[in-house]
Amino acid sequence: SNSSLREKNIVFIGFMGAGKTTVGKLVAKKLYRDFIDIDEEIEKEYNMPIPKIFAEIGEKAFREKEKELIQNLCDYKLKIISVGGGAFLQEEIRRVCLSSSIVFYLDITWDAWKGRLSSIIDSRPVLQGKSMEEIEALFYKRKEIYKNNYHSTIEISNQNMDELAESIVQTL
Ligand code: S3P
Repeated sequence: SNSSLREKNIVFIGFMGAGKTTVGKLVAKKLYRDFIDIDEEIEKEYNMPIPKIFAEIGEKAFREKEKELIQNLCDYKLKIISVGGGAFLQEEIRRVCLSSSIVFYLDITWDAWKGRLSSIIDSRPVLQGKSMEEIEALFYKRKEIYKNNYHSTIEISNQNMDELAESIVQTL
């Protein structure tokens, strides 16, 4: 295991509902590091849940806030950070994360992901009002971005989350 990797932030990326927050928290605990969820930070800034931010302030403002917070957080060291599934659509965010941190891509399979939709859709405005075909298209379009912008990856199906976090720690 490469000790220099352990000196950096770890940023978890991947599609909505892949488990970035759950896995990030577990990895943070195992490494005795602080965990930061960017979506949660945005909600705190606006004092509103994400669907309300999208509805009342708009996605554009959300994306600007997301970029601002990630740019600041990437100045930190030794944090475990989970970013929203849309963050890596912004080139500036990709650059800042890839240069300051270990970017860890949680690569969930479509088959495993499909079954999670109903439990996450209410809090994910990006998925609302779309057909399953449209969501699948978005899933694969996003995958193109993730798979070209990471340092480390692991495939997620429906494994035990603690074992998954443990295997991530072992790869660092
Ligand atoms: C989004 C993903 C969400 C959240 C927002 C937009 C996206 O984060 O940032 O609803 O565009 O993929 P999660 O990936 O944590 O669900």
